[in-house]
Amino acid sequence: MNAWDSQQYLKFADERTRPSVDLTARVALDAPARAIDLGCGPGNSTAAVARRWPRAAITGLDSSATMLATAKTDHPNFTWVQSDIATWAGANTEKFDLVFSNAALHWVPEHATTLPKIFSAVAPGGALAFQVPHSLASPHQTCMRELPATAKWRARFPTKPAVWLVESVDFYYDLLSQSATRVDLWLTDYIYIFNGPEGIVEWHQGAALLPFLQLLPDEPTRAEFLADYLAAITPHYPRQADGKVLLPFRRLFVIAYR
Ligand SMILES: C[S@@+](CC[C@H](N)C(=O)[O-])C[C@H]1O[C@@H](n2cnc3c(N)ncnc32)[C@H](O)[C@@H]1O
Repeated sequence: MNAWDSQQYLKFADERTRPSVDLTARVALDAPARAIDLGCGPGNSTAAVARRWPRAAITGLDSSATMLATAKTDHPNFTWVQSDIATWAGANTEKFDLVFSNAALHWVPEHATTLPKIFSAVAPGGALAFQVPHSLASPHQTCMRELPATAKWRARFPTKPAVWLVESVDFYYDLLSQSATRVDLWLTDYIYIFNGPEGIVEWHQGAALLPFLQLLPDEPTRAEFLADYLAAITPHYPRQADGKVLLPFRRLFVIAYR
């Protein structure tokens, strides 16, 4: 229940894929022969890599069987691997001209030790390119993390839900500049537009809220948690003149060349 669900995730397919398109556009590689997409999900980011470099041999890697099932159906011409990113990074001996990851590495712990291992999979002349959300201080994130600690919810969360693991810009620069020939990194604020604050809840039900919902015992309790989350975020996202709400969403992009 409440594992990764490609249908829920792809309700916002355009918004979720745009960072991959923006990231691939900035990678200064003409013709990578081999590319791997870590945390490829339903294959939307993998397809963005393929559109930019149609001749590349592309592998998509993800730990979720359900996400990979959609990826295989929609894109049978790529190679698909089911694995945990950290486990793969610890055991991998293959080299790739492009190691790509969009919206996945924030689910992988210990970036200080895992990212150098991931970078070691980059062939000379190649690049590691990744994007992670960088919005931990935004109300849509703080409200989510604070709710399980409230008096009402504390007892229902005996274990802490997994939250995004994202470090500072300086951290990624210092870590990767030790072995990269060049590091390019930037932040972008995307503005997502929803019909109401319920849209923000719907958006996060596809990803960030999953570890919270997984810990709750049944559908009524999950619905109550989502209602409380909606009530908590609503004052932070006032309606525009046309009734819509805007969700500013900061993302960090990193490209490290070998
Ligand atoms: C937010 S989706 C991103 C999907 C796609 N890359 C995109 O750009 O939309 C995150 C994906 O990372 C996968 N994932 C999360 N933690 C992972 C891990 N430790 N190892 C492998 N895949 C992981 C999830 O199964 C999910 O498919």
